[in-house]
Amino acid sequence: MQSGLDLLNVTPGDRAELDSLDSRPAFLGPDEDPTWAMLKRAGITIAALPLGRVDRTRLDMFRSDAALRVGSRPPDAALSIALATVEGVEDEEILEALPKVDVLLLSRGDTSYRAARRIHETIVAYAPAQGQYLGRLRVQPGGPVNVEWLSLYGPGLADHDVSDRIASLNLELRDIRKAEARRREPAPQNPRWAAAQACESCHRSVVESWKRSGHARAMATLVKAGRDFDPDCLRCHVTAWGDGYVDPLATPQLADVQCEACHGSGALHVQDPSHSLGATPPGLCLRCHTKENSPEFDDGRYRDRIRHW
Ligand code: HEC
Ligand code: HEC
Ligand code: HEC
Ligand code: HEC
Repeated sequence: MQSGLDLLNVTPGDRAELDSLDSRPAFLGPDEDPTWAMLKRAGITIAALPLGRVDRTRLDMFRSDAALRVGSRPPDAALSIALATVEGVEDEEILEALPKVDVLLLSRGDTSYRAARRIHETIVAYAPAQGQYLGRLRVQPGGPVNVEWLSLYGPGLADHDVSDRIASLNLELRDIRKAEARRREPAPQNPRWAAAQACESCHRSVVESWKRSGHARAMATLVKAGRDFDPDCLRCHVTAWGDGYVDPLATPQLADVQCEACHGSGALHVQDPSHSLGATPPGLCLRCHTKENSPEFDDGRYRDRIRHW
């Protein structure tokens, strides 16, 4: 049975179906109760249960009130799937807190591959984060479980129909996130971050050389991919992630991998250069140049390509 592709067959504007596929918190607030969504695909009724981000607090909530909150599996479903992004809890703990499901599809927030496994009656499969792979889960009653992950960006996805569908799904998600960003209260700007323009008066040649580097185009890359509102991508393609970067509407001045992404926050130094920024920390490049996202990374060669010192 090919559930993945069929599930992805969302019609534009149909939020209900889109919601049911996405386990991310953007679509399920921490206080919202998960509800079963029923999908009919190829004559088969599938019950999907998006759980959002499941950490210890949320798990306790499911445990204390599981029956009330989640309810039991809809009786007329041929297949039931729960989706969750998990943090700091074991697979077994999630299963115990839920009504019985056929498939538990988890994201653990990283990009590494993990083989699917059976725990009691449930198939537990792991989706690599960042929405860069299309998964196909094949389930046979009592038979082996088979999960394949196809890279959406690398070679190998010959099926253009699929890549077109993924592209339009991404655009749809982008619109939803952009609308959320528009509704967000204006966040207070963190004054520790000065942004690259503030460095120009004293480090003109460095700024010029940075503008020619890929780091200065990192946001343009995401815009081109339709992923410029996706936190899974932004965290390495912007400056001050986790400490001041909010979204492209609220903090456009912190787009791209700017000076301060490597040298640390510079507002004090801009006011008074005797506040030294010091040397860059060891392992700096590897924060973003991970095996998955920069397979060719070589410290020496890569430093030569951006050298401004
Ligand atoms: C905050 C995340 C981040 C850090 C830290 C980082 N990079 Fe990058 N780097 C990126 C991204 C994102 C790209 C891709 C930019 C694009 O969209 O083209 C990139 C691209 C590059 C490229 C290819 C583009 C070019 O201009 O040639 C080189 C070389 C590079 N980085 C070197 C480094 C080195 C060396 C370090 C450490 C001193 C480093 N990077 C630290 C995120 C980072
Ligand atoms: C862990 C950090 C990280 C994350 C997360 C990340 N990227 Fe990147 N990305 C990089 C780095 C580093 C490079 C540069 C790779 C190189 O040149 O070796 C890069 C390069 C790219 C490139 C190629 C740019 C070019 O023109 O050469 C694209 C496209 C891209 N990223 C898209 C994305 C998308 C889409 C996402 C989210 C699904 C994403 N990235 C998430 C770090 C990251
Ligand atoms: C990808 C990371 C990265 C980015 C982006 C970056 N730098 Fe650097 N920069 C370095 C590294 C690595 C060095 C070498 C010295 C060190 O490791 O501290 C350096 C050195 C320097 C130096 C010289 C320090 C010295 O000891 O001679 C200056 C000045 C500087 N950077 C300014 C800037 C400015 C201004 C920008 C933005 C326009 C910028 N850097 C962007 C990584 C980066
Ligand atoms: C008002 C002028 C001025 C501005 C603005 C300025 N710098 Fe500097 N910067 C200096 C001076 C002066 C030094 C010391 C140069 C030296 O000793 O060779 C310095 C040194 C540095 C160094 C070397 C490490 C250190 O702290 O000594 C880095 C990295 C650096 N600046 C980055 C930046 C960044 C990033 C910005 C923008 C956020 C910036 N600077 C803005 C004047 C300035």
